[in-house]
Amino acid sequence: MCVSLCVCVVMSEKLVCVADYESMAKRVLPKAVFDYYCSGADQQETLADNTAAFSRWLLFPRVLRDVSSVDLSVSVLGQRISMPVCVGATAMQRMAHPDGEMATARATRAAGTGMMLSSWATSTIEEVRSSAGDGLLWMQLYIYKDRDLTLSLVRRAEEAGYKAIFVTVDTPYLGKRRDDVRNRFKLPPHLKMTNFGSAELAFSSAEGYGEDSGLAVYVAQAIDPTLCWEHIAWLKKNTHLPVVVKGVLRAEDALEALIHGVDGILVSNHGARQLDGVPATLDVLSGVVSAVAGRCEVYLDGGVRRGTDVLKALALGATAVFLGRPVLWGLACQGEQGVSDVLELMRDELHLAMALAGCCSLAEVNRSLVRRPEFTSRI
Ligand SMILES: Cc1cc2nc3c(=O)[nH]c(=O)nc-3n(C[C@H](O)[C@H](O)[C@H](O)COP(=O)(O)O)c2cc1C
Repeated sequence: MCVSLCVCVVMSEKLVCVADYESMAKRVLPKAVFDYYCSGADQQETLADNTAAFSRWLLFPRVLRDVSSVDLSVSVLGQRISMPVCVGATAMQRMAHPDGEMATARATRAAGTGMMLSSWATSTIEEVRSSAGDGLLWMQLYIYKDRDLTLSLVRRAEEAGYKAIFVTVDTPYLGKRRDDVRNRFKLPPHLKMTNFGSAELAFSSAEGYGEDSGLAVYVAQAIDPTLCWEHIAWLKKNTHLPVVVKGVLRAEDALEALIHGVDGILVSNHGARQLDGVPATLDVLSGVVSAVAGRCEVYLDGGVRRGTDVLKALALGATAVFLGRPVLWGLACQGEQGVSDVLELMRDELHLAMALAGCCSLAEVNRSLVRRPEFTSRI
């Protein structure tokens, strides 16, 4: 469906929750693109569990606490943002809308929050900076076999005023996403990963990616599967920016990350796109938070779709959460406006959830706000 027609359809329907944006995105996107954005790995058990986990926790509200004013603002790595909901790294956004990452950057800045740009963006680091103006940007980094190339991405992010490097640690190989294999997923011919000069690394539509998911072949060729903790120390030595590890699920790895000097930990299973059968991120959050014991900030992504999801993640110790697919659904439906609408929807839902839970600020959100149902029945 063409973009103008898609806008008409979206304008005529009232979209009231992230699930509505997903349904609409499914109608307007080409099948192979929707499949790439939506898929999880293998049987997609973890994909279902990432969202289901939020329903396993109940909110346990306080009453009579004057919630006429609710402050959602928070600091992430020393930068104040308007709400604890940030935009996560999702690759190849110009498949969703011609303005791709640039539209997302404008909407994120307007919302007063931060955006993590994928190394695999279809807009350059510099283009996204000029679209974002003085907005808060972070750079997601894959460590390539070619270390000079990897460092050149870091340098460009530094020069363009990005405020942190989020290094992805869960992708030595690409998870098996069955739909991408079926669709032999590749970028459409008019697009490429624009941060790379060479055609080989820009993952174009060119032949040479075989009969598999083209992206899986690309990762096997370019990304370094020898990645280990020494590389995190190497990265720390080679940038003045804070380094956050993205993709930690276990307390032991969180402790290892601290030993290697990280500035933050993003509890993530890559939106359930890597190893299927791992726990939902919400279920492992407390373990990581306890191990870290306040020594760095801990964030969460995976399955966050509602304001109440955000509140539960914060109650379990996350400083902020990141949205992956919801932003893509907004972008597909209505470009910059669609991303703005999704971010404002999440803000409104979080605001209402906080007020109804009796919290005026994030400082009042703590572990006592959530219960597992089995415990609640005994209270
Ligand atoms: C279409 C898509 C592309 C993604 N691309 C990247 C990427 O380039 N780098 C990365 O570290 N994570 C990537 N991720 C993972 C997200 O950063 C994030 O961990 C995940 O989407 C969060 O889960 P959610 O989609 O349920 O919100 C991608 C996820 C999706 C859905």
